[in-house]
Amino acid sequence: MEKFISLFIVLTLIFLCYTQSITADDVYNVADMGAKPDGKTDSTQYFMSAWTSACQNLGPATIIVPQGRFLVNQQARFSGPCNNSALSFQIDGTVVQQSNYSAVADDIFWVGFHGVDGLAIRGGVFDGQGADLWNCKLSNNDCPTGTSTVQFTNSSNIALKGLTSLNSQLYHIVFNGCNNVTIQSVNISAAGNSLNTDGIHVQFSTNVNIYNTAITTGDDCISIGPGTINLWIENVTCGLSGHGISIGSLGREPIEAGVQNVTVKGATFANTLNGLRIKSWPKPSNGFVKDVMVQNATMINVYNPIIIDQNYCPHQICPVQDSGVKVDGVTYQGIHGTSATEVAVKFDCSKSHPCTGIKLEDVNLTYQNRQANASCVNAAGIVVGYIQPPSCFA
Ligand SMILES: *[C@@H]1O[C@H](CO)[C@@H](O)[C@H](O)[C@H]1NC(C)=O
Ligand SMILES: *[C@@H]1O[C@H](CO)[C@@H](O)[C@H](O)[C@H]1NC(C)=O
Ligand SMILES: *[C@@H]1O[C@H](CO)[C@@H](O)[C@H](O)[C@H]1NC(C)=O
Ligand SMILES: *[C@@H]1O[C@H](CO)[C@@H](O)[C@H](O)[C@H]1NC(C)=O
Ligand SMILES: *[C@@H]1O[C@H](CO)[C@@H](O)[C@H](O)[C@H]1NC(C)=O
Ligand SMILES: *[C@@H]1O[C@H](CO)[C@@H](O)[C@H](O)[C@H]1NC(C)=O
Ligand SMILES: *[C@@H]1O[C@H](CO)[C@@H](O)[C@H](O)[C@H]1NC(C)=O
Ligand SMILES: *[C@@H]1O[C@H](CO)[C@@H](O)[C@H](O)[C@H]1NC(C)=O
Ligand SMILES: *[C@@H]1O[C@H](CO)[C@@H](O)[C@H](O)[C@H]1NC(C)=O
Ligand SMILES: *[C@@H]1O[C@H](CO)[C@@H](O)[C@H](O)[C@H]1NC(C)=O
Repeated sequence: MEKFISLFIVLTLIFLCYTQSITADDVYNVADMGAKPDGKTDSTQYFMSAWTSACQNLGPATIIVPQGRFLVNQQARFSGPCNNSALSFQIDGTVVQQSNYSAVADDIFWVGFHGVDGLAIRGGVFDGQGADLWNCKLSNNDCPTGTSTVQFTNSSNIALKGLTSLNSQLYHIVFNGCNNVTIQSVNISAAGNSLNTDGIHVQFSTNVNIYNTAITTGDDCISIGPGTINLWIENVTCGLSGHGISIGSLGREPIEAGVQNVTVKGATFANTLNGLRIKSWPKPSNGFVKDVMVQNATMINVYNPIIIDQNYCPHQICPVQDSGVKVDGVTYQGIHGTSATEVAVKFDCSKSHPCTGIKLEDVNLTYQNRQANASCVNAAGIVVGYIQPPSCFA
């Protein structure tokens, strides 16, 4: 009997060692490659060599960024296709951009992933050091556009968990041409007066999910561009500053992909310019917005809690035309809280392409403990349940 037990133990040990060796990822630590956690030695090349090794690895590979501050002061371009579709970054430290925005003025992004299939980023702080550029933009017009912090293009099966993005010069996290993305427990933060510091921007992408994320910026919390299909946003907090969640601007181009099937569930908006906004330029376009569901949202002192603006045209000579973007099928269900302005619900739709299929269900928005107002132009829909302010549908 004892013999059998020891044989069993030996076999179990052999089995465990074997499965360990076939399941453990190959690991590339940027510090072993030469990166210095001192916040002042440029580590770009060591991040790049870790990527090259991990990407060429024939099995799963993990890149480790240990504790400390790693300066990455050039553009880090991580390209696929890779030899494996199970790459990950485990980031325990902080990755910092240089604060001299002129030196990176021509770069669209700082850290970019292109053509990658199967990537997880766990943890980490990305510090875009954008304050000098924001100040430049606030004090004069002759400033570079800036670089977005992390950009994913033409990539699929991407997961971000527990990442923090601070003080981006431009957008914090961008997805363009991606499929199957999950973002969870991410924290994004930039000053309330910073320009163009959108939290998460999604366009030409399908099946993107954003969960349990806190975003406070000077611009859109989440911006949703043309070609976004099947976007799910759940338990996201926008504020204490910023513009809220925006679909648009759309209709900038005459031929443009539509936005379809967007769900925003359990969001909280605090002191933001908008709750959920849909905006399009007043000019011809074949773009559209279809099947949007906003469910269980809390508004705390929001300027425009519910808004569709089809005459969007900031700081320009505006085309005096109708928006060609057709908005159809937008449900607002369980929206409650306070508006910072008298008009809590505003549908300013296109004359030639009126908004249709709008549904308001259990909406309770007040303004300074009083009744708020709703305003409708070219908008048709239905109401269900308790509705405050009273609906303005014809
Ligand atoms: C691994 O990647 C390298 C560089 O991208 C490529 O040259 C090589 O052919 C790949 N190997 C396999 C087995 O796919
Ligand atoms: C910032 O970068 C620009 C462009 O590379 C360079 O001319 C300038 O000297 C840099 N400024 C500082 C303070 O390093
Ligand atoms: C997009 O990524 C795929 C997979 O990595 C690659 O085969 C393709 O060439 C990429 N396309 C472009 C336009 O970069
Ligand atoms: C989406 O990506 C995740 C990895 O982030 C993967 O586990 C999952 O299987 C993918 N889903 C589909 C439908 O491909
Ligand atoms: C997000 O980051 C900001 C800035 O570092 C911090 O003040 C805030 O507590 C963080 N929030 C969460 C939910 O981690
Ligand atoms: C809408 O998108 C969600 C994911 O966000 C998906 O589960 C659902 O099937 C999609 N609906 C349609 C009709 O494609
Ligand atoms: C969102 O929050 C609700 C209420 O706290 C919770 O039941 C739900 O599981 C959360 N969703 C996710 C994706 O974590
Ligand atoms: C609604 O969302 C809030 C967070 O905004 C959450 O606390 C609450 O549990 C959600 N309620 C339902 C019924 O999902
Ligand atoms: C609507 O909201 C106000 C203010 O928050 C609250 O006093 C009132 O009870 C709510 N009404 C309903 C029907 O939920
Ligand atoms: C809002 O409604 C109140 C009465 O309900 C009215 O006196 C006020 O003029 C309206 N304000 C706007 C901006 O429509």
